[in-house]
Amino acid sequence: METANGKLRERPYVLVKTEELAFPICIYRLGPDRYSALLMECTHRSCELHAGSAFLVCPCHGSEFTRLGEVQNPPAEQNLHAFTITYDEQTLYIHL
Ligand code: FES
Repeated sequence: METANGKLRERPYVLVKTEELAFPICIYRLGPDRYSALLMECTHRSCELHAGSAFLVCPCHGSEFTRLGEVQNPPAEQNLHAFTITYDEQTLYIHL
């Protein structure tokens, strides 16, 4: 992302919406060659999660998930659905 002064700043996450899925996918960059792609559907009762730089938070009952999709705080008990990601020099591919 380019700022007003023309410098590049890395985003903590990117959201992707597809026609095939009812919920967006949140992509986190975990390291230079490491990403996660998480379906933003809470595993408790299917509310759409809110993305933050460190966690995904459910607005319905407060569950939190890490950037790897692991349950951090209940009431959700199951981790988020994670998609496989591959990439080349310019493009990330999410395997739905
Ligand atoms: S639906 Fe997300 S915590 Fe209940």
